Amino acid sequence: MDAVEEIKRKLELVEYIGRGTHLQKAGRNFRGLCPFHTEKTPSFYVFPDRGSWRCFGQCGEGGDLFSFVQKRDNLDFRGALHLLAAEAGVELSAENAQRRSHADRLGAIMSAAVAFYQRCLSEPDGDAARAYLTEKRGLTPATIEAFRLGWAPDGWRALRDHLEGRGYDERDAVAAGLLVDNENGREPYDRFRGRFVIPIADERGVYVAMGGRGLHGEEPKYLNSPQTELFDKGRTLFGLDLAAEAIRASGTVVVVEGYMDVIGPWQAGFRNVVATMGTSLTESHAGLLKRFAKRVVLAMDPDAAGLAAAERAGGLFLSLDSPETMARSARSAEQIAGGANLELRVAPLPAGKDPDEIALQTPEIWEAAIAGAAPYAEFLLRRIMGPTAPDSPVEARRIVDRLRPVLLAVSDPVERAMYVQRVARHLGIHEDAVLDRIRQGLPGRRPLERSMPAGEPPAPEDLLLVLLLRHPHLRARLRHYPPTLFTDAINREAFERWLRDDEFLLGPADDPVVRHARALEARRLPPLSEEDAGRAVEAKIREIMRERIIQHQAALSDEVAIGEKEFGANRVAALSAEVWLGTVPAEERERLLGETTLEQLQLGLSIHRREEPMLG
Ligand code: UTP
Ligand code: MN
Repeated sequence: MDAVEEIKRKLELVEYIGRGTHLQKAGRNFRGLCPFHTEKTPSFYVFPDRGSWRCFGQCGEGGDLFSFVQKRDNLDFRGALHLLAAEAGVELSAENAQRRSHADRLGAIMSAAVAFYQRCLSEPDGDAARAYLTEKRGLTPATIEAFRLGWAPDGWRALRDHLEGRGYDERDAVAAGLLVDNENGREPYDRFRGRFVIPIADERGVYVAMGGRGLHGEEPKYLNSPQTELFDKGRTLFGLDLAAEAIRASGTVVVVEGYMDVIGPWQAGFRNVVATMGTSLTESHAGLLKRFAKRVVLAMDPDAAGLAAAERAGGLFLSLDSPETMARSARSAEQIAGGANLELRVAPLPAGKDPDEIALQTPEIWEAAIAGAAPYAEFLLRRIMGPTAPDSPVEARRIVDRLRPVLLAVSDPVERAMYVQRVARHLGIHEDAVLDRIRQGLPGRRPLERSMPAGEPPAPEDLLLVLLLRHPHLRARLRHYPPTLFTDAINREAFERWLRDDEFLLGPADDPVVRHARALEARRLPPLSEEDAGRAVEAKIREIMRERIIQHQAALSDEVAIGEKEFGANRVAALSAEVWLGTVPAEERERLLGETTLEQLQLGLSIHRREEPMLG
C-alpha cells in the first residue's frame, strides 16, 4: 500500500477537492455543494482529520481521495491510482518495475546456485554426499535429479567464485541469502559449506531458498536460507511445485514437517506431499493450499511430539499432551481450516519412524494411514477418550471436562452434535449429560469470541471486509448494499470485486487491491459458524452506519457552534424555527444556519430513535 499512502500524504484532500468545488470551513471540517448531484443547500462535507468526504444529501456518496477521483472521472481504482500518482509525482510503475526486476534477479541467482550445487554433487567432490543419499537414505538417482539435490563444497568461496565468474552481482547473492555478509570489512562468504543442499521452490517452481544438511551430524542439522525478499518460511511449503499436479488430481495434500518426509514418499509414488519445514501450519499456508486441495492431511506422529514440537506452540504441530494445548490446537485447527474452507484431517503414523522411512519401507502402512485419516477434532477426541470406556463416573466426568474445550472449538453445530453423541456413547452416558457438563460455566452464548488475541482493534470497515472475505456465502445477502458502505476506496474496490468474483483473491499479487484483501484475509479472527458470521456482519454494518451519523452530527455541531458564537444562541434558535415554519430567512447565511440547526436537531432525534431498540 506504499504508493497509495504516499499519494494520500502528498495530496491534501481539502485542497484537492477544493480545486473543483467551492468549500467553506464548517468547524474542523469543510462544506460545499455536492459535485455529484445538483443541490442548492450544501450537504457535501470533507473531513480533513479522517481524510474522507461524504455527501449527506441525495446521493449519499462518500469515501477517500481515491473514491473521489473514481467517481469524478468515472475511473476504476487502478485508473484513479495512475491519475493520482501522476498528479502527486509518485513513481508508480517505475517503483513496481524496479522491485519486480530485483526479485527476478534474485530468482535468477538462486537458479544459478541450484545448478552449480547440482553439478558439484555429480563431481568427485560430491562422492560422499551421493553415497549418503543413495545408501543411507535410499534415494534413487532419479529422485535426486527430480528434487535437484546438490552438494555445497566445503570452502568459503566456491559458490562466490562461481557466481562472480558468471557476472552475478555479489549484493544480489547476499540479498538472496546465498552469501553471508561479513561485517568485519572482509569479503562475503558462502553460507552453505560441506552440506548437501535441498533447493526450495515456491509453488510456481521459482527457487527461493535452500536447506543444507551435513553428512556427519553437524549442528545445526539443517542450515536454511534466511528470510529474504523471495523467501518467507511461514508462506512457503517445500515440495509444492512438484506436488501440485498430484494434489489437484487427488484433492488431497499431505502435510509433513521435514524435507526428507516429502522426498521419501515422492519416491514411493506418493506425490501429493509438502512440508512446513519444521514450523507449524499457518493460515497463510492453508490459504495457499486451498488453491490446490480440498482436504489437508497432517501426517504427524502424535506420540513423538517431544520437546522440539512443544516449542512450536500456537500452531497445529503441537505437543498434544495437556488439555490446554489440545484446546488451543483445536481452536487453531478450526481457524485454519474454517478460514480457508479446507477439510483438516490427521493421519497418525506409527511411532518410532520418520514419515520418509514409513513411506519407503512400508508403503502400504503409509497409504492406509492417509486414507484412514480422522477429522482433526475427532483425532483429538480419540486421544482424550482412549481406547476403552472409563469404569467410574468420576473418570467419565474427568474425560468430559478434558473434552470440553475441544468440543467448544468445533464451530459447526451439526458436527459438534455428532461428536457429543460419540462421546456419550463411548462413556455410556446420556447425551444431555455431556451437553450439560460442556455448557456449564459458559459466560453467555459465545465463548469463542474471547479467543481473539488482544491487539489494536481493527477499523469496523476493515473487519467487515475480513468477515466477508472469509464467508463468501454472505454474498447474496450483501448484494443490495451500495459499495459506499465502505469509505476507504481500496476497501470499496475489494468489496465490489468480492461481490462479482469468487476468486478475486487469487488474482495477481502485484495488484494493490488483491494484496490489500489478502492481507486483510490473513487477519486472525475467531472461528464463526455461518450463522454467527451473518450476525457479525449485520452488527458491523450497523456500527458503520452509526459511526457515519455521528460523524455527520459532529460536522453539523461544529457549524452550529460557530453560528451561535456569531449570532447568539437565541438568534440561531429563532432562525431554525423560521425555517421549520416555512418562513425562510431572506439572507443566505442565516437560512443555511437555520437549516443546519434544524437538521442537527432532527438527526439527534433520529439517533435517539435508533439507539432505543438496541438498548432494550
Ligand atoms: P527433522 O529433524 O524431522 O528433519 O526436522 P528431517 O527432515 O526428518 O531430516 P532427516 O530425516 O533427519 O534427515 C524437520 C524439519 O525441520 C526443519 C527442516 O525443514 C526439517 O526438514 N529443521 C530441522 C531445520 O530447519 N533445522 C534444523 O536444525 C532441524
Ligand atoms: Mn527424517
